[in-house]
Amino acid sequence: MSKFYITTPIYYLNSTPHIGHSYTNIACDTLARYKRLMGYDVLFATGTDEHGQKIKEAAEAKGVEPKKFVDGLVPVFIGLWKKLGISYDDFIRTTDKRHEDVVRDVLNLLAEKGDIYEGEYSGWYCTPCESFWTKAQLVDNACPDCGRKAEEIKEKNLFFKLSKYQSWLVEYINSHGDFILPVTRRNEILSFLKNPLNDLCVSRPAARLSWGIEIPFSKDHITYVWFDALINYISVCGYKDNPAKFKKFWPADIHMIGKDILRPHTVYWPIMLHAIGLELPKTVFGHGWWKVGGDKMSKSKGNAVDPIDMVDRFGVDAYRFFLLKEVQFGTDGSFSEEALIARINSDLANDLGNLLHRTLSMVEKYFSGIVQERRDLKYSDEITKALIDKAGSLYSEINKGMDNIDFSYSLDAVWRLINMANKFIEQKAPWKLSKEQKLDDLKDVMYDLCEILRLVSVALMPFMPDTSNKIAGQLGLENIEKINFNDLKWGLLKPGTKINKGAQLFPRIEIT
Ligand code: MSP
Repeated sequence: MSKFYITTPIYYLNSTPHIGHSYTNIACDTLARYKRLMGYDVLFATGTDEHGQKIKEAAEAKGVEPKKFVDGLVPVFIGLWKKLGISYDDFIRTTDKRHEDVVRDVLNLLAEKGDIYEGEYSGWYCTPCESFWTKAQLVDNACPDCGRKAEEIKEKNLFFKLSKYQSWLVEYINSHGDFILPVTRRNEILSFLKNPLNDLCVSRPAARLSWGIEIPFSKDHITYVWFDALINYISVCGYKDNPAKFKKFWPADIHMIGKDILRPHTVYWPIMLHAIGLELPKTVFGHGWWKVGGDKMSKSKGNAVDPIDMVDRFGVDAYRFFLLKEVQFGTDGSFSEEALIARINSDLANDLGNLLHRTLSMVEKYFSGIVQERRDLKYSDEITKALIDKAGSLYSEINKGMDNIDFSYSLDAVWRLINMANKFIEQKAPWKLSKEQKLDDLKDVMYDLCEILRLVSVALMPFMPDTSNKIAGQLGLENIEKINFNDLKWGLLKPGTKINKGAQLFPRIEIT
């Protein structure tokens, strides 16, 4: 069985999650579910990034010890993932022993190789971003990334020889077209690498910052939070505690991240891996940002959208659908409740909801809720053949989108079929066939519509798992838990199936 290992970033626990965080996890969940349905053995990992100054300060602000503070926030993230149907296989915390052990091993390995040295550091430090800058990089004495004030700091620290590996990295990126995606992000990193790389400061003096993993060969230092965090990707898949698992799953197939954390993932991390003799992840995908009215979303600006509120008001699948369909994955999107409601009303209530409700109502009315046997396909007219052809291309269309990590492409393919089926109802006018007692024609039309709905329910499994289950349940399908993408073939719906018409899945939302 082929394996598929996918990771999300591990989230800082300095505050509660907003839709940006939920976006990455929904995208990864969709890919993980899809790969499982395609027969892959999947490892889907997520987790939390718990060390560093930001967390320490957030804990201090609440007047609690950092560990107690993070222990209190982990259930908030886990609760959200549960609510969003995130089917992760493992959850790693950087305070887990299994992770801290690996960080120490990696540091020891790099030190043995002579890739870590002690030096004096003087620079401008931005606490919220955990980044050092040179004076020249500052913009009006503030951090060039977030615009907040940077402080000047001088201290003895440990450095990792990034510069030694710069030409190797450039060559690697140039010869591995899929390593950094989308292509715009790859170009961004290649242009950054045109300038000489500075070595990476991988420690913080314990006297200044005690909340982190102690450096095994330099007790008065702790590990820089990014260096610690990136290593989660190997500790969660068994680097030290489960070599068989590690052998099976490493290298990761996809590290999914937001575009703002591209540099640590495509410069520091590959060099760290190469220096300790490990293979690189196959792809690092940097997706776009959700903005609100053109502005970056942030707690401090007070414009952060709460995913729990969205799910409570609009339902988990409407929320998942919106994020995956609204923009092409990789580009930025603009979040608004109006846009979400518009999508629910058009795509979910009108297109999908109507197809389901009308079809099941007619099966109930004309055939007492029993799916009838259809005649051989060769007797079908052109309209029917075109519909069945479209249904036949669904599998390859979805795969095409998923192979390119383009969720909206796959969803568009499903919606083209849904819309064609809605048009088919108008063209075939089953109510007329019933009136004229053309029973064979009526049976065929109703079978075809139910079969399209079965295909839609299978196709939606990775994207909207709840909805997919509900459609399957209303169609009366058996062994729903065993359905996979092999079932995306025409004609598997069994005549004699008893449908269970239920409530409208997506009632229209009236804007008052
Ligand atoms: N802890 C680091 C990641 C370490 S991974 C080894 C971190 N954490 S974070 O909590 O600040 O952000 C996690 C992810 O959320 C990032 O991928 C970031 O891009 C994403 N998002 C945060 N806000 C976002 C939006 N408004 N829109 C989309 N994603 C954004 O960085």
